[in-house]
Amino acid sequence: MSEENNYKEALQHAVFNTITQAASNLELDSYVIGGFVRDYILQRGSAKDIDIVAVGSGINLAKEVSKLLPNQPKIQVFKTYGTAMLKAGDIEVEFVGARKESYQENSRNPIVENGTLQDDQNRRDFTINALALSLSKDNFGNILDPFNGLEDLRAKIIRTPLDPDITYSDDPLRMMRAIRFATQLNFKIEERSLKAITKNKDRITIITKERIVDELHKILLSEKPSVGFLLLEKTGLLPYILPELLALKGIDEVEGQRHKDNFYHTLEVVDNIAENTDDLWLRWAALLHDIGKAPTKRFSKKVGWTFHGHEFVGSKMVFKLFKRLKMPLNDKMKFVQKMVLMSSRPIVIASDVTDSAVRRLVFDAGDYIDELMTLCEADITTKNPKRFKKYHNNFKIVRKKMVEVEERDHIRNFQPPVSGEEIMETFNIKPSREIGIIKEAIKEAILEGDIPNEHEAAYQFMIKKGEELGLKSS
Ligand code: CTP
Repeated sequence: MSEENNYKEALQHAVFNTITQAASNLELDSYVIGGFVRDYILQRGSAKDIDIVAVGSGINLAKEVSKLLPNQPKIQVFKTYGTAMLKAGDIEVEFVGARKESYQENSRNPIVENGTLQDDQNRRDFTINALALSLSKDNFGNILDPFNGLEDLRAKIIRTPLDPDITYSDDPLRMMRAIRFATQLNFKIEERSLKAITKNKDRITIITKERIVDELHKILLSEKPSVGFLLLEKTGLLPYILPELLALKGIDEVEGQRHKDNFYHTLEVVDNIAENTDDLWLRWAALLHDIGKAPTKRFSKKVGWTFHGHEFVGSKMVFKLFKRLKMPLNDKMKFVQKMVLMSSRPIVIASDVTDSAVRRLVFDAGDYIDELMTLCEADITTKNPKRFKKYHNNFKIVRKKMVEVEERDHIRNFQPPVSGEEIMETFNIKPSREIGIIKEAIKEAILEGDIPNEHEAAYQFMIKKGEELGLKSS
C-alpha cells in the first residue's frame, strides 16, 4: 500500500498503540472504523468517540486493553450487543467483534454472526462510515476502503455500501442519519439512496422516537438546518415526524390575495437564527414559532388572510408535539412554548415603541427577553431591502428602549416594591382579596409608567388605592 493510503498520523493518541499491543497479545486483527476515521479525513477536529472492530471478540480485546493501560480502567460490557466500552482519559473507546448481520422484516435488531472485516464494513450505513484504519503492527495506519469511501468524502456524497434499498430497510434509522449527515457535512445524498429512502419511508415507524429526536437535534444544530428539513420533506419522511410543519406548506389564494408559504418561511427563520445562536431550544422555537398558523388560517373579505391567535394555538401544539415525540415535558418545553406564545409581541410594538409597551414586553418575557428578540429578528425574511432595513432598525429601537427602561425601572426580574405583609400591616387587615387587588394595581401603575418602580412611590400609591377600596391606614 502506498504512503498516501496510510493514516498513521491520525493514530497518535497513546491508546491506539495500547490496542495494537493488546490485539497482538490476543493474536487478532483490529481496526478503527466509522466516525473517527471520517472526521479525521474531513478535518472536523479530533473525535472523542472511537469505534474499534476486532476480528474476534471485542469484549476480550477491551479486557486486554484495560489490563495494559496504566490505570486499568473499568470496562462496561453490553453482552446483548457483544460490545464493550472503556474510557482512556478524555476518550471513549467502544469495541465490537467484526460481524455479519441479517435483518428481519419488523425489527431493527439483526441476527448476528461472527464475520470478517469486510463483512463488518458491508453492514455499515454509508461508504464514508465504512472506512477502517488498520491497527495491526505490520500495516499500522493503512486504510481499508472497499467502497471508495475516500472518493465519496472528496465528492461530498452520502452513499450506502450495499443496495440502498436493503441498507435503509434493514435499519430505517439510517434514513434519518443520511439526512442528518447531508445537513451536518453539507453533502449530497446519492440519487439511488434518495429513491430508497422515499420508498422505505413508512419503515421509520419502527424506530423509537428518542432516536428520531436525537437526529432532529443534530439537524437543528447544524449550520444550515433547512437542508435537513427540505430533505425530510422531499423524501416524504416529514409527515411521520413533524406533520405540523408540513401543514404550513402551500399558498392559498382567494380573490387575488395570497399569503406567504409558511413552511419555507419557517425554514428561512431557522437558518437565520442558526447564525445567531447555538441554543438548541431557541432553534426549536424558531422551527415551531408559526405552527399555529395552519389551524387558524382564515380568509376575510375585509382584511384578507388572518391567523388570529396562532401564537396561543401554536404554544398549545408545542406540548402535544413534544409529548408525541417523547421529548421531556420540562422547562425546555415551557421555554419553547413561551417563545411561540410571545413570538409576535416585539413585532407588534416595533412600529410604535412606547415605554409602557416595552416595560410590559420585558415583564412578560422575564429572563428570556434576549432570546425572544433574537427569534423576532430571525423572523424577518422579507426580500424587500427597504423593509428589511426598516424592520431591523425598529428592533434596534426596541432593544435600545429596553436598556433605558431597564436601567430606570428594573422590570426584568420584577419584585413587588411593596409586599403583602406591608399592605396588611398598613391597613391592619388579614389576608384577603384586597391585598391582591392592591398589588396588581401597583404593578399595573409601574408598567404603565404612572409611578416609578420604587418603594416610596409605590407606598403612596398603595395608600391611595387602599382608601379607594374603603381601607384605613393605621
Ligand atoms: N452505524 C451504522 N448504522 C447505524 C449507526 C451506526 O452502520 N444506524 C455505524 C457507522 O459505521 C458509524 C458507526 O457505526 O460510523 C458509529 O456510529 P455512531 O457512533 O452512531 O456515529 P458516527 O458515525 O460515529 O457519527 P456521530 O458521532 O456524528 O453520530
